[in-house]
Amino acid sequence: MSGSNDHIGGEARRYGTATIGEAVARLREGGLVAVPTETVYGLAADSTDAAAVAEIYRAKGRPDFNPLIVHVPDLAAASKLGQFNQLAVRFAEVLWPGPLTLVVPKAEHCPVAAAVTAGLDTIALRAPAHPVMRELLDASGLYLAAPSANRSGAISPTTADHVASSLGSAAPLILDGGPCEQGIESTIVAIDGNDFRILRPGPVTPAQLAAIAGKPAVATISGKIEAPGQLMSHYAPAKPVRLDAPTARSDEYHIGFGPVAGTMNLSAGGDLAEAASRLFAALHDADASEKAKIAVAPVSDSGIGLALNDRLRRAASPK
Ligand code: TXA
Ligand code: MG
Repeated sequence: MSGSNDHIGGEARRYGTATIGEAVARLREGGLVAVPTETVYGLAADSTDAAAVAEIYRAKGRPDFNPLIVHVPDLAAASKLGQFNQLAVRFAEVLWPGPLTLVVPKAEHCPVAAAVTAGLDTIALRAPAHPVMRELLDASGLYLAAPSANRSGAISPTTADHVASSLGSAAPLILDGGPCEQGIESTIVAIDGNDFRILRPGPVTPAQLAAIAGKPAVATISGKIEAPGQLMSHYAPAKPVRLDAPTARSDEYHIGFGPVAGTMNLSAGGDLAEAASRLFAALHDADASEKAKIAVAPVSDSGIGLALNDRLRRAASPK
């Protein structure tokens, strides 16, 4: 730890146009801060400040039945907000910090504003791994409610530019930490006593979870929306999307994968993690191109491919 900037201290470290200190000041005033995580950029506010949380819903144009994830530094902090049984503790110990959100019963004296959980008696908690988000959590000492930093229903942002263009004039102070490494939103797991259900597939795979729990996930009740972000048309570009397309038509921007070259390629080597990290940027570029439509090459369903295909099906479903 002998960097020449040590005397400045963490609060003065600059990410793009803003410092951590400025971001903390904004949060303490009840304002919003866009912050990189290892999955996608989040739009953060103090989760215990009802007015600040209302501001998140307003900036995103989000229907208020859709609850938010609260970001915490670690399991000790999470345990002040939610009730962690043995299984929840196991998941948190192995996979935090990281791209896993746990839905658990709210703690008895949970200080989080009611709008965060949209009236549910459960709360979604995640300890993120990204160093900038961790620095913000540490420096502010706050529990940060943060949905993805895009207009409701639009594609999640994986760069600071995506945040600025999606939120437009509602864009808050943005900490720019470069492109997100995972590029796809966290896996959401609901704890149900000794069982668990996967509410949203993500970077943490069903196989990883089953190995930790010693048993597979229980199937979710089909047709019932448990994570309202699971509305079918959600991660949607403005243009029509056609899936499983080995070739494209002249009016289509072609998102390639592996041997299917495409207008751009998610991963020429067929690496699914690399493909996931580039998916939302590809959809943003395709949406901004002069082509009227979007076609996407076939992507295999193994590992994180499951989450990739989940987002692609939503992108392609009728609006
Ligand atoms: O990777 C991520 O999870 C990113 C980064 C910023 O952390 N955040 C994110 O947040 O994707 P958002 O708001 O776009 O998605 C949160 C999802 C929604 O589908 C919501 O319905 C679900 O979490 N959720 C939140 N609280 C819940 C609860 N108590 N029960 C069930 N689902 C819940
Ligand atoms: Mg979202």
